[in-house]
Amino acid sequence: MADFVEVVEASSILRRVEDLAARISDDYEGKEPVLVGVLFGALPFLADLAKHLTMSCEFDFLALNRFGEGGRARIAMDTETPLEGRHVILVEDIVDTGLTLSFLHRLLEARDVASIATATLLDKAARRIVEVPLEYRGFEVGDEFLLGYGLDWQGRYRNLSSLWAVLNLQSLTDDPDRLARLTYGR
Ligand code: IMP
Repeated sequence: MADFVEVVEASSILRRVEDLAARISDDYEGKEPVLVGVLFGALPFLADLAKHLTMSCEFDFLALNRFGEGGRARIAMDTETPLEGRHVILVEDIVDTGLTLSFLHRLLEARDVASIATATLLDKAARRIVEVPLEYRGFEVGDEFLLGYGLDWQGRYRNLSSLWAVLNLQSLTDDPDRLARLTYGR
């Protein structure tokens, strides 16, 4: 069996992102939302999503340090935009247990925003521990470890334009460049 499988190709990701952008554009007509990307994984998704919105919006970012079990997290880098009274769209690469998103929801609600919605490219729905509302989601996926289009393994492979499942993580640990040789073709 192969150690890596391309699960969503770049053109399918972009088509789906365009669909989500069209829905968001309809839902936020007459408003100017702030897209808050969760670094670093949400970067490619946020960029493609924003390019297809047919209204003006702002960007901001935050980064988290996760530690320990149970999804404990701390803000490593906070947003700069005053969010009070704003319509916030949290942009995530993937929602897995839901612990990160529920932490972010509580954090933003405390800032008296006008509304919060979440756009996630990927949803590992079967692994959910806490229920969190997901207004816009690209693809439901299984529990394989995924890489590419923002998702990383030890900081690498975020720049792949398609999504790959790693069926044998040990092979990446043994040879971190294996997927690079396969995908970058050099
Ligand atoms: P949650 O708090 O369990 O929902 O975790 C969400 C975070 O886990 C994401 O933002 C990713 O950083 C990470 N994550 C979950 N599944 C994957 C994966 O398949 N590949 C890479 N990162 C993942």
